[in-house]
Amino acid sequence: MSNPSILILPGDGIGPEVMTQVRRIIDWFGEKRGLVFDVSEDLVGGAAYDAHGTPLTDETMAKAQAVDAVLLGAVGGPKYDVLDFSVKPERGLLRLRKEMDLYANLRPAQCFDALADFSSLKTEVVSGLDIVIVRELTSGIYFGEPRGIIEEGNERVGINTQRYTESEIDRVARSAFELAMRRDKKLCSMEKANVMESGVLWRQVVTEVGKDYPEVELTHMYADAGAMQLTRWPKQFDVIVTDNLFGDMLSDLAAMLTGSLGMLPSASLGAPMANGRPKALYEPVHGSAPDIAGQGKANPIACILSFAMALRYSFDAGEEADRLEASIETVLAEGLRTPDLLGEEGVAPVTTEGMGDAILAALEASL
Ligand code: NAD
Ligand code: IPM
Ligand code: MN
Repeated sequence: MSNPSILILPGDGIGPEVMTQVRRIIDWFGEKRGLVFDVSEDLVGGAAYDAHGTPLTDETMAKAQAVDAVLLGAVGGPKYDVLDFSVKPERGLLRLRKEMDLYANLRPAQCFDALADFSSLKTEVVSGLDIVIVRELTSGIYFGEPRGIIEEGNERVGINTQRYTESEIDRVARSAFELAMRRDKKLCSMEKANVMESGVLWRQVVTEVGKDYPEVELTHMYADAGAMQLTRWPKQFDVIVTDNLFGDMLSDLAAMLTGSLGMLPSASLGAPMANGRPKALYEPVHGSAPDIAGQGKANPIACILSFAMALRYSFDAGEEADRLEASIETVLAEGLRTPDLLGEEGVAPVTTEGMGDAILAALEASL
């Protein structure tokens, strides 16, 4: 049997910097744990535009479809602000999500004990936090038609359309219920059924799917109130399911519960492939962070935790994922901090590479 395959798309800004550390960790698992992967690398986003005039070539798209898992760094940056909308770096990522049909985006927000004091919220609000936002990723206002900027009368009109079919809601709801069944069996669905018809349908379909999961306690919340509850008392949640746009915003908000956007991983999962594993792309929640790119300041943990999710969901290596997560916990407990995690006086920050070194050392010590 051939080795499982990974396509790495580092992207732009801090994407390549954090991915370099992930690559070292992938190599470690090959050398020390016998988990050998066939790794290939390609361009996405602004880097692909610079080389090919498009943020994602058809060849790269085909490679992404063929591998067992894609790991992506981040795309975008101010350099590309002037580009036509159709070739912006972000379009490359959106095409990957759409064409791979990665409809369920799992965004866990877990507060490591060592960082509980660091969140902008009170320690007791976040300590022990462990929630997952399931964000619908291939539909909604991100993809709905009609869209565009048109002339109407003597002015311009910007148009986007929020649109959800029953089957799109049904499948992401099932992913969320399945996840809740493996966790604390609590699911909160968030929409705006008070003002949007798509929200009314969302609530109806999620409720119907819930009949197949009688053990899961299902609640509904308007997304604006959900944002408030997430900052007031986030530990009331276990799994949250929501649409593409609300999920984008709520997951950035959830990032600050854990201390930094540099801590949040994600898994974007689609339907099972022939091997029974879901089609999958793993990426940190954060972007290309142009303000710190090229300075060795980026926190690689979100991207490394995304690889841990790949070990768990694509490679049946849950124990190795546990080992990697425990190693991260160890280095945080030892006080290692990239600058985004620093508030305390007298603590010197480590670089992106220094954080990679420490995690590798903790992995080594775990043997
Ligand atoms: P961003 O996530 O890139 O940065 C927001 C803030 O968080 C910045 O201050 C940044 O320095 C900090 N930050 C983010 N990741 C960090 C890390 N790993 N370590 C330390 N600090 C970190 O969001 P933005 O500034 O709104 O967007 C910048 C570009 O990235 C835009 O072009 C945007 O479209 C793109 N973006 C891409 C993705 C993706 O590729 N998945 C996600 C979000 C934004
Ligand atoms: C994310 C990002 C993307 C999104 C952009 C870069 C297309 O913000 O993954 O959260 O809006 O989905
Ligand atoms: Mn986002």
